[in-house]
Amino acid sequence: MSLNHFDINEIRKQFPVLDQQVYGKQLVYFDNAATTQKPLCVIERERDYYLHENCNIHRGVHYLSQMATEAYENARKTVAQFINARQAQEIVFTRGTTESLNLLATSLGQLLFSDENKTSNFKLQASNSPKVVVSAMEHHSNMVPWQQMLDRINNSDRINKINKMNNLLVIRMDKNGVLDLNHYEELLKQRPKIVSIAHISNTLGTVNPIKEMIAMAHKYDIPVVIDGAQSMAHQVIDVQDLDCDFYVFSGHKMYAPMGIGGLYGKMEWLEKMPPYQFGGEMVDKVSFEKTTFNKVPFKFEAGTPNVGAALGLETAVKFIQSFDRQEVEAYEDELLRYATEKLSTIEGIRFIGQAPKRNGLISFVIDGIHPYDLGTIIDKMGVAVRTGHHCAEPVMTFFDIPGTVRASFAMYNTKEEIDIFVKAVNKAATMLR
Ligand code: ALA
Repeated sequence: MSLNHFDINEIRKQFPVLDQQVYGKQLVYFDNAATTQKPLCVIERERDYYLHENCNIHRGVHYLSQMATEAYENARKTVAQFINARQAQEIVFTRGTTESLNLLATSLGQLLFSDENKTSNFKLQASNSPKVVVSAMEHHSNMVPWQQMLDRINNSDRINKINKMNNLLVIRMDKNGVLDLNHYEELLKQRPKIVSIAHISNTLGTVNPIKEMIAMAHKYDIPVVIDGAQSMAHQVIDVQDLDCDFYVFSGHKMYAPMGIGGLYGKMEWLEKMPPYQFGGEMVDKVSFEKTTFNKVPFKFEAGTPNVGAALGLETAVKFIQSFDRQEVEAYEDELLRYATEKLSTIEGIRFIGQAPKRNGLISFVIDGIHPYDLGTIIDKMGVAVRTGHHCAEPVMTFFDIPGTVRASFAMYNTKEEIDIFVKAVNKAATMLR
């Protein structure tokens, strides 16, 4: 495949939404960790689907249905190749990372914890109680589903309820936002059943050493889930090389439409896991007495899927693949370095998350200024950032702050935009002091 030359002006032409004024100022869009903008090719693909191909899939004998089915299954193949899955069937389409993680907490949880749930033997329960390892920097989506699943098990178990066991084991981090791998090893020795960690923190930008962490968990035969919400657009993902058991992601953070995402799982896990939702499409045979289920991945795709968005996701993958990934990564790293250098000159600034390996975003607070006030003022200057706890309240508690200002970058951002942003932050800080 011949690659597009990395020409920022040409790239920006693909994203008409960037070319607009807000409050009479040129828009600077630095909220890409929340959602990226979509290139014309993705918008056109979804539009084309509704103009010419719209149909329900896997169930019609007619031409349109067969075309839509083929297109949807081709999209699955494209996503599988993108992350180097062994086979297309290892990709389950979901609404996004959050749904993928809820699916896992429910289905993998049921698979791995059903025996513990039944037992009431105290000795067995104390040593073999259901535990999940997450890290101190997780997004709520990679914590709350596990926590709630564990609560359900504990509440239904007499002994655990009496002992009020909290079985979410949390890997510590240091003040730079780097995970403590010695602590992780200690937690693994407590025999958790699942490890679930972010590849890149949505709040701190830390790139976690997931390959090493996966290997550490596998020494104890513990499956590992990787939350790839913040990494898919920025890094080359190879699930076979990582050897993760599951990798989950959202389309809308990688230039694809909202409402589509995925769950990669090793086939041996997906085959063993029970379905997550029930209804049409996911069944094999149904009677009032008994239902048997479809094969993987359809077993996990109950109801009519978002076909148009899946085709948009396929196009987004092809869009990303049309560039030299290393060139894009180097460009985005340079944006991060430049933003850090320029912001460092602002009086009273404190970066939240200073891990040596960071990617895609920068989070900070300024002494005496509430992040919300700063974000609101620079919005009036045309600069879009996210402020608050970024769905990671425990991270804010750890740093003892109400929130941060977060600027997150995509391949279409420029140093000129960073200059506008830094000027806006400086001006707002002066006004608010
Ligand atoms: N998870 C998204 C973010 O971090 C919404 O902004």
